[in-house]
Amino acid sequence: MKSILVTGCSSGIGHAVAHGLKQHGWRVFASARKAEDVARLAGEGLESLILDLDDSASIRAAVAEVLARGGGRLDALFNNGGFGQVGAVEDLTRAALREQFETNLFGWVELTNLVIPAMRARGHGRIVMNSSVLGYAAFPYRGAYNAVKFAVEGLSDTLRMELRGSGIEVSLVEPGPIVSRFRDNCLPHFEKHIAWRASVHRGSYEGQLARLKNPGPVAPFTLGPEAVLAKVIHALESPRPRARYPITVPSVAFAWLKRLLPTRLLDRALLRASGGGKR
Ligand SMILES: NC(=O)c1ccc[n+]([C@@H]2O[C@H](COP(=O)([O-])OP(=O)(O)OC[C@H]3O[C@@H](n4cnc5c(N)ncnc54)[C@H](OP(=O)(O)O)[C@@H]3O)[C@@H](O)[C@H]2O)c1
Repeated sequence: MKSILVTGCSSGIGHAVAHGLKQHGWRVFASARKAEDVARLAGEGLESLILDLDDSASIRAAVAEVLARGGGRLDALFNNGGFGQVGAVEDLTRAALREQFETNLFGWVELTNLVIPAMRARGHGRIVMNSSVLGYAAFPYRGAYNAVKFAVEGLSDTLRMELRGSGIEVSLVEPGPIVSRFRDNCLPHFEKHIAWRASVHRGSYEGQLARLKNPGPVAPFTLGPEAVLAKVIHALESPRPRARYPITVPSVAFAWLKRLLPTRLLDRALLRASGGGKR
């Protein structure tokens, strides 16, 4: 039975992927950062453990525990846990950017680098990074999140080349809108870091806040997290995993538009897709 460590399993994509992979015959180490979520996951029949991406000691302890439970072996890692910092670039503080990068990049890299030696020792491994359509198409008011997902994309491309010949494959899944707790979880970070009432962007923020607090119908083309699961399974099990898996219609469309359109025209398409910055 092959084994995988998944981060951010308390909700959304991580939760669905952990359960889906278990049903698919994988031994899943489902991690979450809060003790109550770890207990809940165990109650759901998953092998669960604590892993907080903001805390190096927690990451080290989790890797040690997974390797001990697996007899030194770990076949795969799904880097997934994270959040989105919403806010115009000119309203982003250094602290806001730091927190975005601490969780969504630095934690991922630290964790990845701790599991690679066990994979190298066996000459086999799969690393799947949960990027986003916003990892290659920039949206207004998502500068921090765009920056960190673009960074995940660049880092993953470098890592894939550096691991050539090691038996370890690196893939990016690139979801568009997926049903999860992502929007709810954006709100506290926005409220903590963005002085929106005093901002020149206040009008746009009011629209965005209304949407975040009362989402109404889901955005067009939204899929359930099982759409991500299907691509993660391909990345883990195919003899030739792809470097990138765009998921959802907007992800595929913007991957093509990015290749085809000059930047100014792409800006227009993206501004339009963002409802002129209101979404
Ligand atoms: N939903 C989408 O439309 C979408 C699209 C593209 C990419 N993504 C990516 O998908 C991934 C999962 O998001 P989701 O949509 O499933 O949203 P979600 O339901 O909010 O799940 C996010 C998960 O990440 C965890 N997390 C946050 N900070 C963490 C930390 N410091 N250490 C460990 N775990 C942490 C959360 O745990 P807590 O419950 O403890 O906060 C939660 O389990 C993210 O990387 C996101 O960028 C989502």
